[in-house]
Amino acid sequence: MQTHEIRKRFLEHFVNAGHTEVPSASVILDDPNLLFVNAGMVQFVPFFLGQRTPPYDTATSIQKCIRTPDIDEVGITTRHNTFFQMAGNFSFGDYFKRGAIELAWSLLTTSVDEGGYGFDPERLWATVYYDDDEAIGLWQEIAGLPAERIQRRGMADNYWSMGIPGPCGPCSEIYYDRGPDYGVEGGPEANEDRYIEIWNLVFMQNERGEGTSKDDFEILGPLPRKNIDTGMGVERIACLLQNVDNVYETDLMRPTIDAVAALAPRGYSQGNAADDVRYRVIADHSRTAAIIIGDGVTPGNEGRGYVLRRLLRRIIRAAKLLGVDQPIMATLMVCVRDAMGPSYPELVADFDRISRIAVAEETAFNRTLAAGSKLFADAAEATRAAGKSELPGAQAFALHDTYGFPIELTCEMAAEAGLQVDELGFRELMAEQRNRAKADAAARKHAHADLSAYRELVDSGPTEFTGFTELSTQARILGIFVDGKRVPVVSHTGRPESGGDAPGRVEIVLDRTPLYAESGGQIADIGAILGTGSSATARAAVTDVQKIAKTLFTHRVNVESGEFVEGDTVTAEVDAEWRRGATQGHSGTHMVHAALREVLGPGAVQAGSLNRPGYLRFDFNWQGALSDDQRTRIEEIANEAVQADHQVNTFVTELDKAKAMGAMALFGEAYPDQVRVVEIGGPFSLELCGGTHVHNSAQIGPISLLGESSVGSGVRRVEAYVGLESFKHLSRERALMAGLASSLKVPSEEVPARVATLVDKLKSAEKELERLRLAGARAAAAGAAAGAQTVGRVKLVAQRVDGPMSAGDLRSLVGSVKSQLGADPAVIALIAEGDGGSVPFVVAVNPAAADLGLSANDLVKAIGSAVDGRGGGKPDLAQGSGRNAAGIDAALAGLRAEIARS
Ligand code: ALA
Repeated sequence: MQTHEIRKRFLEHFVNAGHTEVPSASVILDDPNLLFVNAGMVQFVPFFLGQRTPPYDTATSIQKCIRTPDIDEVGITTRHNTFFQMAGNFSFGDYFKRGAIELAWSLLTTSVDEGGYGFDPERLWATVYYDDDEAIGLWQEIAGLPAERIQRRGMADNYWSMGIPGPCGPCSEIYYDRGPDYGVEGGPEANEDRYIEIWNLVFMQNERGEGTSKDDFEILGPLPRKNIDTGMGVERIACLLQNVDNVYETDLMRPTIDAVAALAPRGYSQGNAADDVRYRVIADHSRTAAIIIGDGVTPGNEGRGYVLRRLLRRIIRAAKLLGVDQPIMATLMVCVRDAMGPSYPELVADFDRISRIAVAEETAFNRTLAAGSKLFADAAEATRAAGKSELPGAQAFALHDTYGFPIELTCEMAAEAGLQVDELGFRELMAEQRNRAKADAAARKHAHADLSAYRELVDSGPTEFTGFTELSTQARILGIFVDGKRVPVVSHTGRPESGGDAPGRVEIVLDRTPLYAESGGQIADIGAILGTGSSATARAAVTDVQKIAKTLFTHRVNVESGEFVEGDTVTAEVDAEWRRGATQGHSGTHMVHAALREVLGPGAVQAGSLNRPGYLRFDFNWQGALSDDQRTRIEEIANEAVQADHQVNTFVTELDKAKAMGAMALFGEAYPDQVRVVEIGGPFSLELCGGTHVHNSAQIGPISLLGESSVGSGVRRVEAYVGLESFKHLSRERALMAGLASSLKVPSEEVPARVATLVDKLKSAEKELERLRLAGARAAAAGAAAGAQTVGRVKLVAQRVDGPMSAGDLRSLVGSVKSQLGADPAVIALIAEGDGGSVPFVVAVNPAAADLGLSANDLVKAIGSAVDGRGGGKPDLAQGSGRNAAGIDAALAGLRAEIARS
């Protein structure tokens, strides 16, 4: 049965049973603790927690899920995917255990002809939470499962949560027995390769708090209602129903494997296990990458962007190790689109963008590989020069850390160069790095734990933002926090009444505020909170405003006088000057965005922005640098729109309507049903935006683009000053120009021509210098060659060279002398006094002298001991460096004696 059919049957089964079909959410939802959506229930969390009333009692969905913690298992086991489709049914206080078991069992075991999956009931097993006798009874009653095919398991296996605070509950999992070829008997408890988990039924009834592992977290209490959350792995079902060995060979991934096999010298399933894993990794990761890019992530060095980068690089590495010697990403993206498109039309509609981003990362990584190869070659050379055969672990780590070189690649290249790699040393360094990362993650988790203190206020409703219409608002203090802990009072010492001896991070939460909290690229307002009535002397400067759980504003403050008590009425004020600048910055950002799209077209999709008074920056997806002409056009169009003095209109409407009007939204962002739209100049600029803006575009003032740069592969950044800052910037530039004109003694307009002339002159002077240097070197070489003595059968040049010389210069001088001495046996040894008291020396032995048994490598060692240093190299050319110039004469004499003996 094809995957599309499996999906269709699932949804039909549950819709027929009265469930509402809900589309998959984006893999990115707004939870800073969840990098990616990892289960079907994530989009329903507020329903389970009772924070929002669900519009339906039961629902079904097929959710795009990303799970990367098991990335190293991919391709090795038969069943791990970084992207998979989780088919689920959900009950919000409607049916519970009985309903969930009945619905799952009937779909699994109803025959294929009658619309089910037709699994043999004799091969199905169930597990339950160890004390869940009720579930055991239901499995026996509904499915007729014998007691020996129901296993009790502990919390780590059968108590499900998202891994972070949220809804949780005991669960019951359904397993399929693949038979003795896949492992020993004994049920899932004994072997999860043979008994493969296909469906998890979670009896979602509690709420969990912080914890450290799957079986160690606090249960905070029961949820308002008993719910059901289930997840069936579509890929695993496909694997079983298509009778293939593993999930990577199912119909939506196998075509990718075949496409790669057509380009690789070694095929799939040809008896090379390591190769097969590489094929599967490529098939798995390509899908995941396309889906993540589709939902708005671009490769980067942190968070989601890093996960994406890692996936793409693993693909490229795997392809290289398979011997594919051409770019492959474009082909892979086509495979993913063709296979997945029927279920995910967005992959087709957005294909060009998705493919462009993946291919750009491939190109960039290949460049990196080229740069890394140079480092590798140097490291290999140094290893050999030191007479070793093992590349140090630190070098392999540097290649990994700086250039993203996987260790396998380094090992492979080392093998080609006849070397080995100190893998143990490499792994030790990796482990150290991982431990540092773990410590960081633990520290962050701890910081998050503190958020629970705000919970009660978050639950009591959102902060009312009054700042669109006023700059000063009377408000009530709902809560005061010092270092994340709630306190009743805070005074100007910054110390909470309840104790503590250092002024901490003080935050005040109000019921309403005119101060804008950082969001949508606009940084927070600054201002003040002032006491009223009997505490009129109290004053706190607001330095930052942040949102918690998207709804609650916390004001970070310095209490400057008096004290603030929870429940007090206060006045919150925005710094008006600051706000004026902030509105200019934000409206200016919309102008630049609109101008950019006018010049570059709709492909220039926003990737992020930041604005503060006087300054803005805007990141967008684009390949390659902008031309001067494009930059000038963008700046002109933005300033013309300012000059046109458009009225700025804002209104709230439904998301669909706003999108239909063509309002631009940030890719991958989750928007509520009701959205605020900011319109400047009609269709010129229409954006979903919650920020504060000027009333008329002329208030933005001049916009000066500062330039444009790259911020990661396929993402460019423009920066600009606006308003008064723009004037200041231009005036600084003018002063610079005036300074240049005066030093060059020409009028400003002639500065460019004058600089061009100077650069030309400098270039010819440098050329002339180089010519003289070469002539000097040739003369020195001729002089040295003329001083050759015949010692035994050998022409010997053994000299001290005057003037400080680097090892490189000395080497080329030795080379020139050698070429002037002809084919008779010759040895050249030059010793110099280098910078900082060093004594570099180089010895060359020509082939005829080598035939007499002379070796440069041996000769430099003798020199080395005479000048307190060391040297080494090859038989024809060796070099070294010492520290004792007083030993030079002795070294030369020793050399002559050595040659005379030969
Ligand atoms: N939420 C449950 C899971 O992911 C169904 O396994």
